[in-house]
Amino acid sequence: MSINLAAKLRIGTQKSHTAVENVGFMKCFVKGVVDKDCFAKFLSNLYFIYSALEKGIENHRNHPVIEVMYFPELNRQAALEKDMEFYYGKQWRSQIKPSPATQIYLNRLQELVTQTPELLIGHAYTRYMGDLSGGQMLQAIAQSGLKLTGFQGTSFYNFEQISDKKAFKDKYRQALDAVPVDDATAANIVAESNYAFQLNMQMVQELEGSLIKAIGQVMFNTLTRSHSVGSTEVATS
Ligand code: HEM
Repeated sequence: MSINLAAKLRIGTQKSHTAVENVGFMKCFVKGVVDKDCFAKFLSNLYFIYSALEKGIENHRNHPVIEVMYFPELNRQAALEKDMEFYYGKQWRSQIKPSPATQIYLNRLQELVTQTPELLIGHAYTRYMGDLSGGQMLQAIAQSGLKLTGFQGTSFYNFEQISDKKAFKDKYRQALDAVPVDDATAANIVAESNYAFQLNMQMVQELEGSLIKAIGQVMFNTLTRSHSVGSTEVATS
């Protein structure tokens, strides 16, 4: 059994976290600059990703590693479906398709589902822990930036079944420390988590062009000039 997988993941992905926080789209987002079409596209990409990830986890729920990390209360697919209807209407299914970077991400998830399902843990960690952390702040920004009410259009960030996020994250970290993997597999999970960060980064980088069109190059340059210190390099909770 690998000791401290939670700490290995946190420390092993700090640089990736800082890198994704410093992508133009994220920097603008944090500063309150959110364009509705870009945000809808961002969520539509995530709809495809979470659908694939959650189906893969469900199919392997009895796998010795996956079963320890099986928390269906995290599932985002249904929430994203609500958001898709909000932005694209009842016919949303025919309105959206995975972007090129999303397709690469989906191919990787499919590969893991068939070949090395234990590495799906690296993807689940990267997305869900992020959604429960910085994601909560992003929800508030999107809500006010897009003048939305409640969780309309931001259901994705609403974990209805998890009232105490901090307590849940502690439980999730404890579960990570209890997964039955050796050190080599633990290292592969950390590497996969870094790859998940990279795939997420590519997905948001793709949206930069449309964001620049919406807000203008000058504004974009102003908002993205400075480099932020990474949140996971400073935060401790
Ligand atoms: C600009 C946007 C972001 C901000 C401001 C942000 C902020 C934060 C903060 C403050 C934490 C620390 C929470 C804690 O220690 O409990 C955190 C943790 C985390 N974030 Fe982000 N984040 C952002 C984007 C992302 C993205 C895009 C991802 C992945 C795709 C991500 C993945 C994670 C993960 C996995 C953790 C957990 C680290 C750990 O404790 O193991 N974050 N984020």
